[in-house]
Amino acid sequence: MPKDTLTITDNRTGKTYEVPIENGCIRTHALRQIKTGDDDFGLMGYDPAFLNTANCKSAITFIDGDKGILEYRGYPIEQLAEKSSFLEVAYLLLNGELPQQKDLDQFTHLVTHHTLVHENIKSFMDGFRYDAHPMSMLASTVAALSAFYPDAKHTRDERSRRIQITRLIAKMPTIAAFSYRHTMGLPYIYPDNDLSYVANFLTMIKRIGTTTYKVHPVLEKALDVLFILHADHEQNCSTTSVRTVGSSEVDPYSAVSAGVGALYGPLHGGANEAVLRMLREIGHISKIPDFIKQVKGGEGEKKLMGFGHRVYKSYDPRAKVIKRVADEVFEVTGKNPLLEIALELERIALEDEYFVKRKLYPNVDFYSGLIYEAMGFQAEMFPVLFAIPRTVGWCAQWEEMVKDSEQKIARPRQVYTGSGRREYVAMDKRPAPQK
Ligand code: ACO
Repeated sequence: MPKDTLTITDNRTGKTYEVPIENGCIRTHALRQIKTGDDDFGLMGYDPAFLNTANCKSAITFIDGDKGILEYRGYPIEQLAEKSSFLEVAYLLLNGELPQQKDLDQFTHLVTHHTLVHENIKSFMDGFRYDAHPMSMLASTVAALSAFYPDAKHTRDERSRRIQITRLIAKMPTIAAFSYRHTMGLPYIYPDNDLSYVANFLTMIKRIGTTTYKVHPVLEKALDVLFILHADHEQNCSTTSVRTVGSSEVDPYSAVSAGVGALYGPLHGGANEAVLRMLREIGHISKIPDFIKQVKGGEGEKKLMGFGHRVYKSYDPRAKVIKRVADEVFEVTGKNPLLEIALELERIALEDEYFVKRKLYPNVDFYSGLIYEAMGFQAEMFPVLFAIPRTVGWCAQWEEMVKDSEQKIARPRQVYTGSGRREYVAMDKRPAPQK
């Protein structure tokens, strides 16, 4: 019978160690027993950017990057996108099971009735300059919520946790819409409890000078599907930020605001904004071969934005669903003129040896920006549109972390490469720096 262990021989000492294998992992901490002598700290794992290190156990989202599989609580993303709704998916991610109708009604009622923000939040947001990026406003305003809800610090109290989670999911669209209205110089629109989660958000964004504005049902459905696709993605950069900050037992508003900050980056949620800029820079399909040449020859400083993924080494399953949604949206809004460039860019890249060899496929962000733009959002709003649904994933992952008895404050080790100990040198004795 083969044993679930790993035998390690330390060639420095000739000693052999047996380390248990559990869930396809060894505990890196088990390496610490491997020492060359009593003074030795013990062996560590060195893994910049967590390429091969699991930071937690999680029962929320499953990804098989090679096969292009994404499942929330075991349910394939394609089925959820086709049959479910965003709030039902939110319930599933937070609670582990699909809801009964009465549970969903209750959850929807709770979220709907927590969408208002304190009036001082409006004054807080008014303090931003007219050209503030809406994602900066979102990150700061979410962090500010912790000052409005001091009870949120009781992270060990399940009831308190659930109240904060409801508030976060409910208020995120309101703050997101306010940040949009601020950049446009438009008055804020208050939430409308008679509307769905998505219709309410779109109304707060779009309504100007009328009380009868009605969201087009195709666009409402499309954004609901996009929200489902973005709701969680296991231990990505922003979720890891939320878990890391949350591990200090700070309130969830502070932790989620760290997630918004991480998502803002162009290599993460800012990628769809970057895709649009890239498509505009290319400008015409005739310029694509030249652009691809620059990406391939540029030693990494020029990337094909919306391509590649740390985990997916085949087609991102979300990108497939998004392409279908794009067709439905363009039926209503008319085609985004950049679509032609995007489709041709994808076709050429998928045949090019550089991208094939590195397994670079379109990710969720390659087409989402085109849809958002067709729906009338400016590029700065794209990461904000990502942050709204991802709040559900951040909250589910944060709560899972809080309840996990194995988790502690996150505190990685380092490999020190700096100077050895040296004595302080007085200012007048310091040698002049070498030019
Ligand atoms: N364009 C051109 N080359 C690329 C790209 C790209 N988009 N992505 C990766 N590569 C190249 C790298 O230069 C590297 O080449 P090398 O082996 O010759 O050095 C190789 O492919 C492997 O790439 P890594 O950088 O090691 O991959 P990593 O897992 O670290 O990066 C990432 C993943 C950050 C997503 C990367 O693919 C990227 O920057 N993509 C563009 C930005 C983007 O679309 N981000 C959105 C991600 S999805 C999301 O957050 C929702």
